[in-house]
Amino acid sequence: MIRIENLSFGYCKRNILKNINLSFKEGSFTGILGPNGSGKSTLLKNILGYLKPNSGSVFINDENINHMKRKEYAKLVGFVPQKSGFSMAVSVEEFILLGRIPHLKNKWNGFEKNDREITDEIIKQMNLEKFRERNVLTLSGGEFQRVLVARALCQQPKILLLDEPTSALDLNYAVELLGVVKELSVYKGITVVTVLHDLNLASFFCSDLVLMKNGGVYMTGNQNNIIDSDVLKDVYGFDSKIIEDGGIPYIIPVCKSRGVLNV
Ligand SMILES: Nc1ncnc2c1ncn2[C@@H]1O[C@H](COP(=O)(O)OP(=O)(O)OP(=O)(O)O)[C@@H](O)[C@H]1O
Ligand SMILES: [Mg+2]
Repeated sequence: MIRIENLSFGYCKRNILKNINLSFKEGSFTGILGPNGSGKSTLLKNILGYLKPNSGSVFINDENINHMKRKEYAKLVGFVPQKSGFSMAVSVEEFILLGRIPHLKNKWNGFEKNDREITDEIIKQMNLEKFRERNVLTLSGGEFQRVLVARALCQQPKILLLDEPTSALDLNYAVELLGVVKELSVYKGITVVTVLHDLNLASFFCSDLVLMKNGGVYMTGNQNNIIDSDVLKDVYGFDSKIIEDGGIPYIIPVCKSRGVLNV
């Protein structure tokens, strides 16, 4: 469904992404992992067409994204950014409704009954009823992050790109949010590509993993080859112990100054 071919990208003269070749199958749930600054957000912005590669291309359903109309692209792809500069005082409900914009038949007629019904459904699904009337600018970081995801879901995209969607969430909401997204990929065939820093959540939820290092793809696969002490040591530089539960590997970091923890 998404194919990235020989993609390289640089900010000004600084080369960031180096010859990336990846593909994401329909209905897959891929976690993009890698240290800070390894190029994960830059990769998502290239898939979105916000940034233009120096060389190489991105294809969706075999069509080069440069040849797609932005409205068609927006119907297909929903995005939740790592940072949002949104600063308008609108209610949570109105904000989530904005996800329907690519589907407007005629922008002068505004939203239809169907758009409001879909918004209602998503508000329930994301457990956001009690925030419906709240001004988005008054939400906590985690509450706003859930609203950003809700807006992307309201778009009913076939592809969902998420940049650290759980970074501000407590563990309960992180698991709930990834659970909702996982259901969409399994039952509705939505292709999900999400940047995650929590390797254990990635191991639990993702069907596929891509591990990045220094702007390149270090390794692709899944939890079985990537959640590995030697791999993690080489990419992140930390020591770890891997345990397994129900066939899923989990990481226990080994603290170098362990003595301090016993004081
Ligand atoms: N607008 C920009 N101009 C110049 N350099 C940039 C710009 N945006 C990002 N960079 C640099 O590009 C590199 C990759 O950044 P990117 O945001 O893709 O990393 P990341 O893997 O998403 O990191 P993080 O986990 O911290 O979010 C970093 O070295 C960053 O400093
Ligand atoms: Mg990032």
